[in-house]
Amino acid sequence: MASTILIQSMTTCTLVILLLLHLSSMATAKHSYSSRHHRRSHGHSLSNAKLNRAYIALQAWRRVIFSDPYNFTSNWDGLDVCQYKGIYCAPSLDDPKIKVVAGIDLNFADMAGFLPEELGLLADVALIHLNSNRFCGVIPLSLANLSLLYELDLSNNRFVGPFPTVVLSLPMLKFLDLRYNEFEGPLPPQLFQKKLDAIFLNNNRFSNVIPAFLGGTSASVVVFANNNFNGCLPPSIANFADTLEELLMINTNLTGCLPPEVGYLYKLRVLDVSYNKLVGPIPYSLSGLAHLEQLNLAHNMMSGLVPEGVCILPNLANFTFSYNFFCEEQGICMNLTSKGIQFDDRRNCLPEKPLQRNPKECNMVSEHPIDCFEERCNLVGTPNFGPAMVPVSTPLLSPSTAPSYT
Ligand SMILES: *[C@@H]1O[C@H](CO)[C@@H](O)[C@H](O)[C@H]1NC(C)=O
Ligand SMILES: *[C@@H]1O[C@H](CO)[C@@H](O)[C@H](O)[C@H]1NC(C)=O
Ligand SMILES: *[C@@H]1O[C@H](CO)[C@@H](O)[C@H](O)[C@H]1NC(C)=O
Ligand SMILES: *[C@@H]1O[C@H](CO)[C@@H](O)[C@H](O)[C@H]1NC(C)=O
Ligand SMILES: *[C@@H]1O[C@H](CO)[C@@H](O)[C@H](O)[C@H]1NC(C)=O
Repeated sequence: MASTILIQSMTTCTLVILLLLHLSSMATAKHSYSSRHHRRSHGHSLSNAKLNRAYIALQAWRRVIFSDPYNFTSNWDGLDVCQYKGIYCAPSLDDPKIKVVAGIDLNFADMAGFLPEELGLLADVALIHLNSNRFCGVIPLSLANLSLLYELDLSNNRFVGPFPTVVLSLPMLKFLDLRYNEFEGPLPPQLFQKKLDAIFLNNNRFSNVIPAFLGGTSASVVVFANNNFNGCLPPSIANFADTLEELLMINTNLTGCLPPEVGYLYKLRVLDVSYNKLVGPIPYSLSGLAHLEQLNLAHNMMSGLVPEGVCILPNLANFTFSYNFFCEEQGICMNLTSKGIQFDDRRNCLPEKPLQRNPKECNMVSEHPIDCFEERCNLVGTPNFGPAMVPVSTPLLSPSTAPSYT
């Protein structure tokens, strides 16, 4: 979570840096211009075809903003769109002598309304930050026109509809934040072929399984938490290995066994698959995750032993595996305190430990051993877990107490 916040402040930081860069290049441009021309005029013409198109776009937008409690748009009139609150101009990349709208930062404006098709006229915009507003409706297809768009943050709004595939056509996009909206339906496999640095999808209504053929994403952070994937984690997750540092799949209705391929994600620092319906053992391959700091397996139906290889990981600082059915801890796993590792092993079937499940619950699971090889995540869809594979549900197993991921 801390690093998620870090990414967010990184985004803000990127914006600041980008704008500073633009401002300094503007200052340089202005300076050289005015020294040559003895301050005869402003460095940049206030009106050009691109700014005129931006004016049309922003006026169209203003007409479909129905609530603006902090008065962001109250100065959105007049032709000089660069003065509008939340709108940032910079020299055009094609023609540094003219200014264009390069950034839109309306984070935390609490505005309600729609995104109009006319936003496609903002062809030079590199950043759009609309975090924490009440925008609703669907994402206009005309956004495909924003060929310089680098960061798109639509988080914490009320957007609906299927995954906005228009973002897949944005050649420069590096940062995509769709979390806390009401997008629904499956995720397109192409999303994972794009060269994105971070993908935030959590707290939507994405459903179906995670694409079985995940491409080789370049993302270092992928947050799927609080969606309803209702399937297993495909072995193709291994294709994320070259970049993935944080994989957060909290409360996504994951089923089946954790595939051994998770252990191929050699850069992982955070792995959180808590509040799911995972069964079977901890794959021994996790003991290869030399950078792993946080491992959270809590609130699943996993069983078997806790392997020593995981407990001796050099960077492990917090290992949470409470609310499962583990019945044995190997070697030093019995005494994680001695390694300075924060842990939570409550509500398992560990004979020597306090606060465990009652033997009746434990027997129910040990009588139905899980064969992960048999039940390997089927590449075409949801694995078929017969009722016998899943222990009888008890209130303890209910994911309804899952905290909302923030
Ligand atoms: C916004 O403008 C309205 C009307 O001018 C004013 O009553 C209100 O206090 C302003 N709100 C803020 C947050 O400045
Ligand atoms: C896309 O941008 C160009 C300018 O670069 C503009 O002429 C055109 O109308 C825009 N298309 C849409 C769909 O907004
Ligand atoms: C998981 O599935 C159950 C039952 O199918 C559903 O009630 C629940 O809302 C799902 N969880 C999430 C996070 O969507
Ligand atoms: C360890 O991780 C668990 C689960 O993510 C978290 O609730 C707990 O606060 C963490 N403990 C410390 C000391 O960071
Ligand atoms: C765990 O290890 C510490 C230090 O190595 C030791 O003092 C303690 O008695 C051990 N606890 C158990 C339960 O073995």
